[in-house]
Amino acid sequence: GPEPVTTPHADAVKIIPSPPLETRWPPFALRRYAGGFWLPEVTVKEGLPAVHSCFVPRPSDVILASFPKSGTTWLKALAFATLKRSTHPPSDGNHPLRHRSPHECVRFLGIELNDKNKDEFEALPSPRVLATHLPYSLLPGSITGDGERSGCRIMYVCREPKDALVSYWLFTRKAALARGVNVRSFTIQEALELFCDGRCPGGPQWQHVLQYWEESVSRPDKVLFLRYEEMLLEPEMHVRKLAKFIGCEFSGVEEEGEVVSAIVELCSLGKLRDMEVNRNGSTRLGTKNESFFRKGVAGDWSNHMTPEMAQRLDKVVDDALQGTGFAF
Ligand code: A3P
Repeated sequence: GPEPVTTPHADAVKIIPSPPLETRWPPFALRRYAGGFWLPEVTVKEGLPAVHSCFVPRPSDVILASFPKSGTTWLKALAFATLKRSTHPPSDGNHPLRHRSPHECVRFLGIELNDKNKDEFEALPSPRVLATHLPYSLLPGSITGDGERSGCRIMYVCREPKDALVSYWLFTRKAALARGVNVRSFTIQEALELFCDGRCPGGPQWQHVLQYWEESVSRPDKVLFLRYEEMLLEPEMHVRKLAKFIGCEFSGVEEEGEVVSAIVELCSLGKLRDMEVNRNGSTRLGTKNESFFRKGVAGDWSNHMTPEMAQRLDKVVDDALQGTGFAF
């Protein structure tokens, strides 16, 4: 049955008083919170408390976690198509992913969930697939599993920092422009400075990644750590891997029927981008669906950053990860 609701962790909502508001990464005003993460004020005032007080996790829930622009949309599509394949076979011409965006099929905790719409999340049939950009340390214990509670399974997708930065920068500019915001000062140089300082939503990116990676090492049955670049190289292997992790391995009959490749095909960038809903629709928060589909490759940073800029970020990341055992 449903597990008890937890109250927000005092530390999770405590504002570190000294650092000023950061307003150079549009459109959110950011502050640095407990744990050192920079988050939109609105996330800490609304999104985060709602996850702690309005969300009732079920042991069957699968939570997709990521730093923004790291393959969230793709993972949403793949995990949803895999977990829901008995009700919605990928070959179904009426598959939800053919008329709803991945962000509508798998909704965000920490952004969308609030006191008014919590019933919509309650009404979702088990097993639920939900997503979050929140750092691991800010998730409620009912999700991560503390003490007597088992928590949910978490799948994290990580992306190489320079590609995450470039993708984030282009996305942010486009979204701001669409809202009529002047982005002339938000150059790649400015975005790089902010990103290196961790001053973007969810930053520092490498700390976000590191927390989930450490959990995946200590609790591999609960946290699956995926890399976007490896998924691009071997998507089918990754679909099998995530199916196994969430306890719905593909049967011999399904393998013979090439269900895995049908899922990969359905969720491919080309297929999703071409769907009417993703060409012309918008998310509930008003972002154009098309803005989530761009190039989808590894190494595109080199088309936007100079080698010097790349070295700068690489050094910041390498220094921060010294001695952790993790490397991109
Ligand atoms: P690029 O901007 O480098 O092209 P997120 O979903 O976390 O917002 O990340 C967006 C990034 O994932 C974008 O990267 C986007 O093109 C890529 N992407 C979106 N859908 C994808 C898919 N089906 N397959 C591969 N990559 C995808």
